[in-house]
Amino acid sequence: MKRVVFVCSGNTCRSPLAAAILRAEEPDADVQSAGLAAYDGGPAAEAARSVARERGLSLEDHRAQTLRAQLLAGAVCLTMTRAHQDEVRRRFPDAEGRVFSLGAYAGEPAEEIEDPIGQGDGRYRETADRIASLLRRAKVRHGWLYLQTVGFGSDHAGFSLKRELTAALRHEGVPTLDFGTDSVESCDYPDFALAVGRAVAGGDVGAGVLICGTGIGMSISANKVPGVRAALAAEGLGAELARRHNDANVLCLGARLTGPEVAREATLRFLRQSFDGGRHARRVDKIRAIEAES
Ligand code: RB5
Repeated sequence: MKRVVFVCSGNTCRSPLAAAILRAEEPDADVQSAGLAAYDGGPAAEAARSVARERGLSLEDHRAQTLRAQLLAGAVCLTMTRAHQDEVRRRFPDAEGRVFSLGAYAGEPAEEIEDPIGQGDGRYRETADRIASLLRRAKVRHGWLYLQTVGFGSDHAGFSLKRELTAALRHEGVPTLDFGTDSVESCDYPDFALAVGRAVAGGDVGAGVLICGTGIGMSISANKVPGVRAALAAEGLGAELARRHNDANVLCLGARLTGPEVAREATLRFLRQSFDGGRHARRVDKIRAIEAES
């Protein structure tokens, strides 16, 4: 399930417009909007309502709300400016890996959606157009993982690499959710493979990345979860083909076998590729049939 929260200051114009635009494009997604300093229960600004109407949307039922931790749980949070992004990360540190300005998420970190208040309908129209354009660019950039998070898990052996990879993905505007472990203290890899595997199979995250010493224990464990196709890859081409040919939804890496730079490249190639389909779909269907019979 795609869960998105748009955030601006008052939740009367920019984030409600963004939410209305996205809801029309992604009817199955859970799309919310909130403000960092909202007047709870207040209506959308008249100019925003009028611009929404022009686009065939409606903000008549919108009621402003203040951002709360509950709204952020498991969701991708897209803010209108980098100042909003920094403030959400400061107030809600648990959500940090999933909070981006809309510009950063679209790969255009310098683009800000400024407040059009008091600047006339034309400025509101322009604001809606820019939001729609950034969402289109984000969709192209994130492909199969558009509006979804990537679940990460590791044991003690993979902990440091996991930290490096999640930091690198934050830099790339890819939302992540960490399922542990949280230190280099010895632990058991199947626990984390199960947590991430279930989140992938249940649709709570769009894909998973699991890291242990060799990646082998993680891949054996994750592949026991129905619906998971976990692929162990040591470099970029293997990771890319796991997506294109096998429709793998979990990438497993071995921190003792693959260095951080190669692991980073492999992860990005895995997350950016789509399934080729065609003859590969027939084969993946046969994998599903084996799973259904077992
Ligand atoms: C832990 O020492 C190691 O066995 C584990 O990280 C992994 O390599 C298992 O496959």
